[in-house]
Amino acid sequence: MHLKQYLTDLNPQGQPLPDGLQDLLLAISQACVGLSQLVAQGPLIGLLGSAGTGNVQGEVQQKLDVLANDALISRLSACSTLAGIASEEMELPITVGSGRGDYLILFDPLDGSSNIDVNVSIGTIFSILKKLNPSTPLEPNDFMQAGSQQVAAGYVVYGPQTTLVMSLGAGVDLFTLDPLTGDFILIKQGICIPQATKEFAINMSNLRHWAKPVQRYIEECLAGVTGVRQKDFNMRWIASMVADVHRVLMRGGVFMYPWDQREPNKPGKLRLMYEANPMAFLVEQAGGQAINGTQRILDIEPTALHQRVSVMLGAGEEIELLRAYHLP
Ligand code: AHG
Repeated sequence: MHLKQYLTDLNPQGQPLPDGLQDLLLAISQACVGLSQLVAQGPLIGLLGSAGTGNVQGEVQQKLDVLANDALISRLSACSTLAGIASEEMELPITVGSGRGDYLILFDPLDGSSNIDVNVSIGTIFSILKKLNPSTPLEPNDFMQAGSQQVAAGYVVYGPQTTLVMSLGAGVDLFTLDPLTGDFILIKQGICIPQATKEFAINMSNLRHWAKPVQRYIEECLAGVTGVRQKDFNMRWIASMVADVHRVLMRGGVFMYPWDQREPNKPGKLRLMYEANPMAFLVEQAGGQAINGTQRILDIEPTALHQRVSVMLGAGEEIELLRAYHLP
């Protein structure tokens, strides 16, 4: 079944999606089909390497970061029910049309930028919110909604296959791009993360910088079958959140990018609004959990568009343990 048919006929909510939401989801999927082709061509069309610019986070932008941002904005700007667009790559949101549409979209146009030049999986992450008052012009504050208010969220991972994983708030479904036709085809419905796991993902080189509860959790995993956990754990780290979380959704596990003491005033590396929130929404919809250590990520009331957050998500039993270790 094609994505278009799924959105009109078979969406998991069992009732027709509002036309505006259908248009928006189709627009983002179409933009990602175009991005998938550009990612695949890479050096053939001169798309590797730095753009020579920086973003609002002070990070060096790769050529594909900039191109992906422009491609998404160009396609999404044609959606008449969209009021505003916010992106990792732009300091301020963009108003679409009169700014009086029903929806807002936030995205990380190309997550995992450090992997672009080495041909490792990267992706696009998106979050869709309702504009609370569609009849008034867009204001930056309209985006300041907790992740629990998302009406849809998803990502596209550009890996050996291009895969779209999405939730409309009633489960998580997966589509694979047929590169010959340019269509996303429904492959799997009702993705489920097992409560238990023996696999974790974290950048281990930061171990000495983490807070005690995270150090304790990882050290107990490393102790293996003779330690308190009484089982051997496996570790994976792709350094593209989109690919690491995709693995968690496909076969279980835990993904963490916790706060660390190198920059004590920074809550974490990952961004709440367009990285942590959409991934937390997907993980919860798949039966897992997502916290910042003490609090459910989807309950965090945002105070800034580009705010950062500590992230621990995946298998319920492991996240519960991490939460317990963070208790005072
Ligand atoms: P970006 O949005 O700049 O591509 O950030 C990538 C993020 C995330 O995708 C990944 O999990 C993490 O950075 C990797 O960070 P390290 O290089 O510190 O491992």
